[in-house]
Amino acid sequence: MQLSNFNSQIRFFLKSALLICLISCETTEFHPKLNGSEEDEFIGMMLEKMSIEDKVGQMTQLNLGFLSSSMNQHDGKPKQVDWDKVKTAVETYRVGSILNTAGRAYSLARWHEIINGIQEIALEQPLKIPVVYGIDAIHGATYSKGSTLFPHNIGMAATRNLEIVQAAAEVCAAETRASGIRWNFDPVFDVGRQPLWPRFPETFGESALLCGKMGGAIVGTYENFNHAKGQGIAACMKHFIGYGVPASGKDRTEAYISNLELWEHHIPPFQFGVNAGASTLMVNSGSVNGVPVHASRNFLTTLLRERMGFEGVIVSDWQDIIRLHSRHQVARSHRDAVKMAIDAGLDMSMVPNEYSFSENLVDLVRSGEITEERIDESVRRILEFKMRLGLFSNPKVEETAVKKFGLSEYEDIALQAAEASLVLLENRNEILPLRGDEKLLVIGPTCGSKSALHGAWSYTWQGNVESAYPNETLTIVEAITQVFGADQVKCPLNAGFDDSLHYKLDIENAAESSDVIILCLGENAYAESPGVIDDLNLPKNQVKLALDAIATGKPVILVLVEGRGRLVSQFVEDIDAVLLALRPGSQGAMAIARTLAGLSNPSGLLPFTYHRSTGDLIPYDHRFSSKITQGPPGTFTELGFRPQWPFGHGMSYDELDCEFVDFSCEQCFLGDSVDVNYRLTNKNQDEASKSFDLYLSDDYATHISPRKRVLVAFDHVRVPPRSFIDSTITIPANAFGYVDGEGTWHFEPGSFTVELFGEEKSILLEE
Ligand code: BGC
Repeated sequence: MQLSNFNSQIRFFLKSALLICLISCETTEFHPKLNGSEEDEFIGMMLEKMSIEDKVGQMTQLNLGFLSSSMNQHDGKPKQVDWDKVKTAVETYRVGSILNTAGRAYSLARWHEIINGIQEIALEQPLKIPVVYGIDAIHGATYSKGSTLFPHNIGMAATRNLEIVQAAAEVCAAETRASGIRWNFDPVFDVGRQPLWPRFPETFGESALLCGKMGGAIVGTYENFNHAKGQGIAACMKHFIGYGVPASGKDRTEAYISNLELWEHHIPPFQFGVNAGASTLMVNSGSVNGVPVHASRNFLTTLLRERMGFEGVIVSDWQDIIRLHSRHQVARSHRDAVKMAIDAGLDMSMVPNEYSFSENLVDLVRSGEITEERIDESVRRILEFKMRLGLFSNPKVEETAVKKFGLSEYEDIALQAAEASLVLLENRNEILPLRGDEKLLVIGPTCGSKSALHGAWSYTWQGNVESAYPNETLTIVEAITQVFGADQVKCPLNAGFDDSLHYKLDIENAAESSDVIILCLGENAYAESPGVIDDLNLPKNQVKLALDAIATGKPVILVLVEGRGRLVSQFVEDIDAVLLALRPGSQGAMAIARTLAGLSNPSGLLPFTYHRSTGDLIPYDHRFSSKITQGPPGTFTELGFRPQWPFGHGMSYDELDCEFVDFSCEQCFLGDSVDVNYRLTNKNQDEASKSFDLYLSDDYATHISPRKRVLVAFDHVRVPPRSFIDSTITIPANAFGYVDGEGTWHFEPGSFTVELFGEEKSILLEE
C-alpha cells in the first residue's frame, strides 16, 4: 500500500469515527474545526447519514413569531418565545433555520437567551446540526435594542462615499453578530426606478452602478471576514429580480421588464453582489412578465446560477412558495407550489408560519417526483453555508463578538453618514447656513418624529412605533434647540404624524415673533405594502401647511424627511431653501441641525430623479427619444423631461472650483479604461469634501439606441483648506460598451461624450 493511500485511509477512518462521535457522543457539544477538503468530506458524510426528513428540515425556515406566544406578527408588541414550539420545530421537523423577531427589538441579553436556547436544542439532536438564524439588519442592527441605525440605502447612495458605506456595514455586522445572529437579509440590490414603490428607500436609487457598487461594498464588508473566527456576517442579496419596478408601484405586484432593461438595469447590480462573494440570495415575491420569480427556472437556475455564476444558497421570500398557489395561482395546490419552486432552483423556503412545506417536500421526494439528489444539492449548499459561518464549531453567542456592541465610536460614524447623506436642493439668496442669531419657528409633522428620521426596519418592522426608539434619540426640533439654543427656537408642537394638530396651528400668529420658519414635512415610516401610496404628491394637508407658511411672508426653509421623492411642485418655487433628509437614522436630527447652522457643509447628491409631475416619470439615463414631445403638427420639443431636480443634483455652502482637465490618453482605445484628470480648488478656510458623478453618453451605437448621460463613475474626495488637488477618476473599459436584450455586450469604436462637473468633453475611441 502506498503511503499517501495509507494516510488517506487513516484520515477517512478518523473522520468516520469523528462523525460517529458527533452523532452519538452525548458529551461533544461543538463540531471540531476542519479544513476545506475535510469540510467537503464531512458534509458528504453528513448527507449520507441524513434522512429525507433531516434534509427537508434544513431547507425549512420558520418565523420566531410562529414559535412564540402570539401569532400577531405585525402589532409591534413584544412576544414570548414558546420553547415547546421551538422543540417541535427543531426536534420533530429538524428545522434548520429561524428568522425575525417576534414583535420588536430585543435587548442583547434577550437575544443571547434566544439564540443559545435554540442552539442547545439543536445540539441535543442526533446530528447536532446548528440552526442558522436570519434577520433584517437593514441599516444597522434593526432588532437589537441600543444598536446604531444609519441612513437607509437611499441616503447612503446620496453620499457617493463607499468608505462611509463600508464603515456603517462594519458596525452593522459587529452589532448583529454580537446579538448572536450571523445571517443578514441585506443588502437590497433592487434598482429604485419606480418612484411610488414603498421599498424605494431600501434601494440605492436609480442607477445600476450606484446599486451595484454600494451593495457590493456592503457584501464585501459583511463577507470578507473570517466568519469562523467570530467576525462578519453572511449577506443576502435581495430581491432577485425585478422587485423594484412593479408596473403599478404597488408592493409585490407584477413587473413587466423587457430583456433589454433586465440586462441594462436589473442584472448588473446583482452581478456586483455575486462577484463580491455574497453567500445567499432572496427571491422577488412578484412576477416578471407574468412569471412568478419563485417558479422561474429560467431566472433562478439558467440566469442566476449558470450565467451569473452564483453558487450560494437561494432562499424564498416570506410565504412565497405558498403564494405560488394562493396569490399567483400558477400552482393548483401547495404541494404543486413546492415542486415548482424546487424545480426552479430554490434551496430554502421562508415558509414561515406552518409546516406544509416540510410535509409536502418529504412527500414529493418519497413519491419520486423530486429526486433525493436534487434536495442533496440544496442541503449541501446550506451545510456549507453553516460551516463557513463557523456554526458547526460554535453555534452559540461568542464573547469576542459581544464586546463589539454599542461602542462609542459608532455614534460618530452614524453622524458622519447622516451628514454626508443630506442633499441641499435649493438655497435661494444663500439663506443657508443660518447666521445663528435668527429666531426660528419649527413646525410640521416631521419636526417631532423619530420614525420619519429612521423609516422602515427600525426597532420594529414598520419603524413607526415612537416609543420603540431610545430616549436619547433626538427629534429635529430637539436637535435644533441644542444647536441654536432654547431661547431662539419656538415649536408649538413637538410631535410626529400621529398628531393632527400640526395642521390646525395658527401659523401666522406663531410666526410673528420669528425670523425664519423651519418647515418639516415628508413621510412617516413605512415598510413594504403598508407604504403603498396612490399619489406621489405630498399629502394635501402638508401642501396646505406649506402654503400657509409661505403666506406669512417669512423666509421658509423646507426640511423634507422622506424615503422617496414626494412631489413638491405645488409650492416649492416660493420656498427659500430645501434640505432633503433621506431616512438619515439615529443621528439624523443632529445632522440636520448642524447643517442648518453651517457646522456641517452638505455634500450629498440625489441618487434618483426628483420628479416635478406625475406625468413625467422618466429616469435620468433615458434614451434621447424619451424626452421628445410633439407639439403642433411637425414641431417637436424636448420638454418631455423636466424634473424638479435632476439625478446627481446637490448643492454645498462653499462650492469648490472644479475643473475637468483632460483625458490621460492622447490616443484612446476600445478595451482600455480611461482616466479623467480633474482639479479641485478649495479657497475656503476649512477642509472641504466633494461628491461628484461622471456621466458618459455613447454618441452613436449600431444595434440599440444609446442611453444618454449614464453614470459610469462617482467619488467622494476631501480637499484641504486653501489648496487644490489634481486627481483622476477612471471610466472602466466596459462602460464604453452596451448590452443588448440577449445579454451580449457590444463594443464599437467612435465618439463618446463625457460629463464631469457639468462640463462636457468628447473622446474618440479607436479600435
Ligand atoms: C421582505 C424581505 C425580508 C423578509 C424577512 C419579507 O417580507 O420582503 O425583504 O427579508 O420579509 O423579514
